[in-house]
Amino acid sequence: MHTSPVTLIRQLILILAIACVPGAGAREAAGQTPIIDFQERFLPQVARHAMVVGPERLAAEIGTRIMRAGGNAVDAAVATGFALAVTYPRAGNLGGGGFMLIHLARDHRQTLIDYREKAPAGATADMFLDANGAIDRMQEFFSHRSAGVPGTVAGLLYALDRYGSMSREQVLAPAIALAQEGLTVSFALNFEINSRAERLRLNPEARRLFFKADGSAYDIGDTWRQPDLARTLQQIAEHGAEGFYGGEVARRIVAEMEAGGGLITARDLAAYRPVERTPLRGRFREFEIVATPPPSSGGVHIIQMLNILQGYDLAAMGHNSAAYLHHLTEAMKLAYADRSRYLGDTDFAEVPVAALIDPAYAARQRRLIEPARATPSANIAPGRVLGGESTDTTHYTVADSAGNVVSNTYTLNFSFGSHIAVPGTGFLLNNEMADFAAVPDTANAYGLVQGAPNAIEPGKRPLSSMSPTVVLRDGRPWLATGSPGGSIIISTVLQLLLNAMEFDMNVAAAAAAPRIHHQWEPDRLLAEQGISEDTLRLLRSMGHQVDTGGRTLGRTQSIMLRDDWLFGATDTRRPGGWVAGY
Ligand code: GLY
Repeated sequence: MHTSPVTLIRQLILILAIACVPGAGAREAAGQTPIIDFQERFLPQVARHAMVVGPERLAAEIGTRIMRAGGNAVDAAVATGFALAVTYPRAGNLGGGGFMLIHLARDHRQTLIDYREKAPAGATADMFLDANGAIDRMQEFFSHRSAGVPGTVAGLLYALDRYGSMSREQVLAPAIALAQEGLTVSFALNFEINSRAERLRLNPEARRLFFKADGSAYDIGDTWRQPDLARTLQQIAEHGAEGFYGGEVARRIVAEMEAGGGLITARDLAAYRPVERTPLRGRFREFEIVATPPPSSGGVHIIQMLNILQGYDLAAMGHNSAAYLHHLTEAMKLAYADRSRYLGDTDFAEVPVAALIDPAYAARQRRLIEPARATPSANIAPGRVLGGESTDTTHYTVADSAGNVVSNTYTLNFSFGSHIAVPGTGFLLNNEMADFAAVPDTANAYGLVQGAPNAIEPGKRPLSSMSPTVVLRDGRPWLATGSPGGSIIISTVLQLLLNAMEFDMNVAAAAAAPRIHHQWEPDRLLAEQGISEDTLRLLRSMGHQVDTGGRTLGRTQSIMLRDDWLFGATDTRRPGGWVAGY
């Protein structure tokens, strides 16, 4: 794209041998090596055949083992998803939900499996309001009522059944073994549990699961066994979805709901089904963006912002220059303002998706952006469309040797969800009901204002920001990525895409570059460490309310597919991420 001749020559003469990706030597031995620019400060990991990039090492390695054993990317993604439920309890899950975007190489098409949680039949629009009509945040975030009907088990098994090639037993065996035999507690796991210890200890079952008998935390290097979780996984291996949504596991969920005042019934569990949806499509220059449709807002707004931004020569402005960040911020404000008005579950609400991702609408919105002046959020209303951590969640990306790609984001909502575990099952309940608008036009846990289309209704899926995304170039997958971070997911994925597509960064550099976030309300521009003081000063002088608050934004897990090689990058903003490949 914008690659200079000097860079091209350098790329042609520089050869990479990446030792830390097992098996990367196969193609080197044949005298063919990937081209990488050693002048770049961040280098991706490289593999020839297959790769899993995710938030935790053991689960990523399980995914690649599945592919070495003959499985495809979907088999690996399902095995990784179940393994993360064992190794990464803050967001890996059986009790949550998510979205899996799949590129099917043989069929030259993409599909999206929506396994987002659903509101139980007993849910009501005012279920989180107290006697004075105020939102009871404890009920919304940390009670049995916080849980939507889990979708993960049904979603992963649906993917396996439709698009995988292995048996349930094969893809679940590694997770069962890890839960049964135990895993060695890593720095990251120790840190994650300790950072939520106070609230986890409040729930007797979570205390029993995550801490030693005396209540102390497992140390780094200790072996942590999860026999209850192994039994639940075994039920799923033996009986499929019925092993979770029926039988003993379902009975335990329902008993816990009854004991704790929750709403999920045996009928809700038996009725849960994932939905296969058509992904959204957009274009940015020569790239085709394949993105997640509602009930996630992610794809709509990523495409909308790319539509707005492709009217500018961003590369000429310079990466992370004040001019670039100003235009990025203004596009974010416009998109997030629309999110607050229009987005919700399309099975229940009219959402003007086509209008929001229409380039003609973006052209009109572009005219609202002043070139050197921030428009206060108070002066931005949701557009008139025609026609129509802490936050947590986790993402992993998989590619196989046949060209299939899986981009999967799933979550319990907050880290460790509601922090309530179902006795005898080894898993936590999500608190995804908090992603609904408890009162329309008020802010949720992420400060996101949400509208009537996202009001609570029985059987409805709460609006999400999860954004597993695949970018095609010349009709073939070129980049697959996603991130956790609640409201920050959308802006994080947008910037990773722009860094790669517009600024020609390799996938590791694209992940490492400092990011910003603005979500319209509150009118605050979050900026990560690494954006220069000069730039921040210029942004302030344009009227932006810059907040450098010391936090990081998102955690991408990405694979770039170029020249028949796989380039992987796990975001270094959190410990423990891993690129496994061969
Ligand atoms: N629970 C965060 C999201 O779905 O956006």
